[in-house]
Amino acid sequence: MKDIRRIGIMTGGGDCPGLNAVIRAVAKTAMSMYGVEAYGIEDGFLGLIENRIHPLTYDDVSNILTRGGTILGTSNKADPARFAVRVGADGKPVFEDMTPKVLANVEAHKLDAIVCIGGDGTMTGAANLCRHGVRIVGVPKTIDNDLMHTEITFGFQTAVATATDALDKIHTTASSHHRVMLVEIMGRNAGWLTLESGIASGADIILIPEIPYELDAVCEACLRRSRHGKKFTIVAVSEGARARGGGQVIQRIVPDSPDPVRLGGIAHVLVDQIAQRTGLEVRATVLGHVQRGGTPVACDRVLATRFGFHAMELLAAGRFNELVVMQNSQLTSVPIESVAGKQRLVPADHPLIAAARAVGTSFGEK
Ligand code: F6P
Repeated sequence: MKDIRRIGIMTGGGDCPGLNAVIRAVAKTAMSMYGVEAYGIEDGFLGLIENRIHPLTYDDVSNILTRGGTILGTSNKADPARFAVRVGADGKPVFEDMTPKVLANVEAHKLDAIVCIGGDGTMTGAANLCRHGVRIVGVPKTIDNDLMHTEITFGFQTAVATATDALDKIHTTASSHHRVMLVEIMGRNAGWLTLESGIASGADIILIPEIPYELDAVCEACLRRSRHGKKFTIVAVSEGARARGGGQVIQRIVPDSPDPVRLGGIAHVLVDQIAQRTGLEVRATVLGHVQRGGTPVACDRVLATRFGFHAMELLAAGRFNELVVMQNSQLTSVPIESVAGKQRLVPADHPLIAAARAVGTSFGEK
């Protein structure tokens, strides 16, 4: 750790449970093991652009292990290379490259390296800064679990627990009212969160983006249950799910975000379609941001601590521009560049899909 005396820590993109556990692990390891100062960068890349960077004390990062969110704040709208500075005459954002500002702020605070905690959007921004000479180590976060080259991101298991708890609760009201209940689950274009919480709660139908569904097959699965005396059906549906030959349901476009599409609303589309075709009573629940909140579960606290510690080990070994990842249950690292702008989707032959099918779960296929 000869040439690193001060590091910056930032959290970028959508928040998730376990961010504070990583901040704590990185900062405590830096201070107590390596005698390195830690600086907190506020609101992700926004803080680097706007020069909102402050020293962190040991006390600042104590007692935050179990706290949800991030003490540093975050933003999923600030890409330094393409930063929306104002709205143009045409109503569209005008973008500018803020990389020179970021480089000047990194220099001004004498940050020898930065630990960037984020998902693919943050790693895309980080890869750009690496190309400009900033020394970065990445730590993978997202409830979507869709980052390339890592089999797990912290935050995911907490979101699975939250979604499973919600599905369990929906189960009891579904059975009382003999209804088809749709539960819409986050995850963008990846079905991991829906798949795991759907299996954990015994959902009867699981709809994920990677397996386009046939509406007829979904309705038939509901009716088949009715015919067999099962008076209710639980459908776990990914926000990114789509009918075969159809498109995803877009909730909104965030023009100044590096990834402007926000998915959502598929459950409400399906409510009417299933009700009309089956004559059954159908309701929809959209879980939304509750999936990103709350206290991390124990395994996310452990994972976050291991990721944070390993990030510091990489810095100590002079390994920069790498992302901490988990492969075959072992911590290792890959170039940040190799995950930028990519998504890890559920493969069609994944063992979880086979297991779900074996217990009678329908994926809405013919
Ligand atoms: O990537 C995490 C995530 O929660 C996705 O599952 C979801 O599609 C998106 O972020 C929502 O983004 P926002 O917080 O901007 O609404």
